[in-house]
Amino acid sequence: EKGGYDYFMLKEIAEQPKAVADTLLGRIDDSGSLTLDEVRISAAELREVDKVVIIACGTAFHAGLIAKYAIEHWTRIPCEVELASEFRYRDPILDPRTLVIAISQSGETMDTLMALRHAREQGSKVLAICNTNGSTIPRESDAVLYTHAGPEVAVASTKAFLTQLVACYLVALYLGQVRGTKWGDEIDAVIRDLSQISGEVERVLETMEPVRALARTLASKNTVLFLGRHVGYPVALEGALKLKELAYMHAEGFAAGELKHGPIALIEEDLPVVVVVPSPRGRSVLHDKIVSNIQEIRARGARTIVIAEEGDETVVPYADHLIRIPATPTLLQPLVATVPLQVFACELATARGNEVDQPRNLAKSVTVE
Ligand code: F6R
Repeated sequence: EKGGYDYFMLKEIAEQPKAVADTLLGRIDDSGSLTLDEVRISAAELREVDKVVIIACGTAFHAGLIAKYAIEHWTRIPCEVELASEFRYRDPILDPRTLVIAISQSGETMDTLMALRHAREQGSKVLAICNTNGSTIPRESDAVLYTHAGPEVAVASTKAFLTQLVACYLVALYLGQVRGTKWGDEIDAVIRDLSQISGEVERVLETMEPVRALARTLASKNTVLFLGRHVGYPVALEGALKLKELAYMHAEGFAAGELKHGPIALIEEDLPVVVVVPSPRGRSVLHDKIVSNIQEIRARGARTIVIAEEGDETVVPYADHLIRIPATPTLLQPLVATVPLQVFACELATARGNEVDQPRNLAKSVTVE
């Protein structure tokens, strides 16, 4: 049932191109418009929405953090993202014009369920993004957009995460479409790029052998840090989470701009630091800032592991290890940038003799608060 792979996690990493394609299937029509029939919240109601609040836990929360960039950029609707476990304890401001998006692979996460119940009690509409048909979270929501990742068995979430991102992009673009926000060339181009992205994920998977080899050399390290900016920041958080849960290593993700406000004090000789570099095209100011960050940490002894777009030569002099990913629009980069981090964590876990599919102390579905 592992289809020739040693672990379900490896199988599920390999299934990501298909999971992404399946989640897009039937949702983009020939003219490049979106039809999300399952989102049974009327266009009139969606036009009234004045705030989006995303609630989720763990990896799904990281998908939500990335969704915020897409939703605010493409729709200009303010968007908050909150850990479901924190949400209802702070008396959040919700009303019928708030669209709440609950993201959950299992559909059974108690923290997320309690948060969505709280939101509905305040009169907000809840849209679930979920991978499990008929589970509790979609049943209790006003609408659901299913991710089509197929069953995810490994405790560490991989293909579900990529499909959560796809679903979030679809919702963001759909909101833009029904609200008639500036529907410029950028949006049309993004829909085209999104419909081709599964091929890019496939290409990343074909180049993962050096990432595995690198991971094996780091098996005796205690700490790995991850840095990113913009959508690369949640990708850094996700890379760190994967390493914690699978390799049981101390791993932290930071916004690269925060380095000088504290974390740079952690940098010491030969400390592995993974840096997710934004595309040099598009928002190039972000790119140039992170290249300076890489120089700064390297000057202080860090071993830099740089994830950068193909053709980006500016990073070459400062990368001890360079992992290439295909060029994508800035907002879509997490779909390709996360994959090497999954492979990295999986291989480190194996090298450290850990049980990859069943990490200690963790459960696939967390049905207690
Ligand atoms: C991490 C992981 C967890 C889940 C979290 C939410 O690899 O699997 O952090 O993402 O427990 O679970 P769902 O998405 O089922 O609500």
